Amino acid sequence: MFIKNTWYVACALTELEALGDKPLGRTICNEKMAFFKGPDGQVAAVEDFCPHRGAPLSLGKVCKGHLQCGYHGLEMGVDGKTVQMPGQRVRGFPAIKSYAVVERYGFVWVWPGDPTKADVAKMPVFEFFDNPAWAYGGGLYHVKADYRLMIDNLMDLTHETYVHANSIGQPEIDETPCETKVDGDQVILQRHMQGVQAPPFWQMAMSANGLDPQAKVDRWQICRFTPPSHIMIDVGVALAGQGGFDAAPEHKAYSVVVDFITPETETSHWYHWGMARQFKPEDAALTDKIRAGQGGIFNEDMEMLQLQQANISQWPERKLLMLNIDSGGVQSRRIIDRLLAQENSSEITA
Ligand code: FES
Ligand SMILES: [Fe+2]
Repeated sequence: MFIKNTWYVACALTELEALGDKPLGRTICNEKMAFFKGPDGQVAAVEDFCPHRGAPLSLGKVCKGHLQCGYHGLEMGVDGKTVQMPGQRVRGFPAIKSYAVVERYGFVWVWPGDPTKADVAKMPVFEFFDNPAWAYGGGLYHVKADYRLMIDNLMDLTHETYVHANSIGQPEIDETPCETKVDGDQVILQRHMQGVQAPPFWQMAMSANGLDPQAKVDRWQICRFTPPSHIMIDVGVALAGQGGFDAAPEHKAYSVVVDFITPETETSHWYHWGMARQFKPEDAALTDKIRAGQGGIFNEDMEMLQLQQANISQWPERKLLMLNIDSGGVQSRRIIDRLLAQENSSEITA
């Protein structure tokens, strides 16, 4: 079960554009969708099911803004209504589901639920996209694990010491208690380390920003969950004693880890990850270097999560423990459960 009346990232715009006249087929929240560009170049999504014989429309191609089925040539419009089919009268053809879709921040966002409830004003706002003061680089992983395992992972950074021992891990993470706060539908988990040595990834970032990589630093991690499954993490290091997170820009290297987690099925998800930074935003080579570093780090998480999912699927009745370090994930799951219950009860009363 997924929250459906909400916005998820469906794909990066570049993924869709790279396909040329082919649509993009993608399962989101257990719904098979076909994404394409309509007659005015606007992004559209319809059910990936041809009303003629059920072929996947995503195997077809886009002709003048209509999605032509690759089986017998039926042409589907952006609204889920058949436009034409060679040699057939199409008026009686049943409409298929179409989805509310919006292009923003270089991504295609989809509202898998009731399109009449889709509200662009509910789209999250991110200051770092389309902003020359910031640079952004990221990527996409398909992860064979429940999307909530990724939320647990990102809302608990103690795992860095073990999973990412050679890049961002350090023992001080475990030694420093974290603080979890729930503010409405938002969960904030933070940890501040004082006077520590920066781990390799942050030494690289310090050098890139003209700081001595061997200097002692104050390091922070501030994870923010907002529903349905967006996690932004303020991360960085500042020269020790300069104010940590609040230090002046010339004393620190810092960025925002951007995570858009989109459920595919109950045991798989699309993980759109990236990093937005304010230091040296014009340096494209640095963006590539950070992307490569982050991609390697998240690959380590992916291996852990997929095997964790395999274990859980094999032993579904086994109870898992909940410790202090799990509070960020636990609180985030509570918000998801509450919104899911609300959505389901409003459907019943509607
Ligand atoms: S199944 Fe699509 S046109 Fe026949
Ligand atoms: Fe990780």
